[in-house]
Amino acid sequence: MAKRKTNGGAVDGAGSVLSTIAGPAEPAHPTRLGPPNQIAEQLLTKVVTDQALAAGMPFNPTKPLEYGEAAYTPHEGDTESPASDWATASTSTESVASPKVGDGRPDIGGNPLDGPLDRVRVDDSGRELTTNQGVPVADNQHSLKIGLRGPTAMEDFILREKITHFDHERIPERVVHARGSAAHGYFESYNDLCAITRAAPFSAAGKRTPVFVRFSTVAGERGSADTVRDVRGFATKFYTDEGNWDLVANNIPVFFIQDAMKFPDLVHAVKPEPHHAMPQASSAHDTFWDFASLSPEIFHMLMWHTSDRAIPRSYRMMQGFGVHTFRLVNAKGESVFCKFH
Ligand code: HEM
Repeated sequence: MAKRKTNGGAVDGAGSVLSTIAGPAEPAHPTRLGPPNQIAEQLLTKVVTDQALAAGMPFNPTKPLEYGEAAYTPHEGDTESPASDWATASTSTESVASPKVGDGRPDIGGNPLDGPLDRVRVDDSGRELTTNQGVPVADNQHSLKIGLRGPTAMEDFILREKITHFDHERIPERVVHARGSAAHGYFESYNDLCAITRAAPFSAAGKRTPVFVRFSTVAGERGSADTVRDVRGFATKFYTDEGNWDLVANNIPVFFIQDAMKFPDLVHAVKPEPHHAMPQASSAHDTFWDFASLSPEIFHMLMWHTSDRAIPRSYRMMQGFGVHTFRLVNAKGESVFCKFH
């Protein structure tokens, strides 16, 4: 069974301390970040002393001395001392020792990037170059040619692998559901459902199947906001006794279109306007309403989409709907239709 990672549950205010997009809404800091943990305490010290350092100089008192007559006799400038070295640390894990980063004693005032690169050099002598499959390669700078000045031979699998790898180095972003977050957990069957299905997760009451659930927004790209008005995805991977089983769901029980043929048009319409890239990740714009106004089948979905359901409080506060009708088959080969809602 999947083991849930935990940091001891929610600690009020901790999220805003760790936030990288805005300062805390409440000026008060939490007094702890979960159960006792040295790195978390250092992080808290860092954040608190960091902000105290910034608050110590709300404006630059010597700025006026940079202008006019006063500028002829340069002034040293005011300074503020941090209450702790952690305030100026680059990370809260600077004191963690490892073969790569050293003994964990920060060099206060020093910048390792100014020094020689020997600390990160690796000695590869004695190790041969290989293809991706591990075949030793003597030379990956010259392709196989027919004769002295002849054409390149397509038999040169090392050349083909190198170029194929190069051509595929950039993996494009998913067209939809690009932004997501996921969690491990388990699915527990309340009842023995053998009468209607022979699928392993439903074979006994109380049977637990490990799952990995990926929640997502749909329209926005990977850097977009989580707070937009949009459908939310709910994709579950069940690690069943018989292999992996994927079930996709949305948090709305119906869908925009009834024919996959329209999907590229729907997605093109909902993506940002091409000339100003607005709106990001949301759907309140002309191209989307143009498409919607010409698709009568979309209106049921729009009623859901313009309700509060499309701005859920969090991924924890939403439901999952498989939308499609599925067929369940039991050990005797008898089938029934079902919806996973
Ligand atoms: C015409 C119908 C649909 C088409 C053509 C379609 C197409 C797609 C495509 C192309 C992706 C991106 C896959 C990737 O790049 O990894 C995707 C992802 C997804 N779709 Fe659909 N979709 C359709 C309907 C639905 C419906 C009805 C649901 C809800 C039951 C749904 C739920 C999802 C989810 C949750 C994901 C993200 C999966 C993940 O997190 O890995 N889609 N879909």
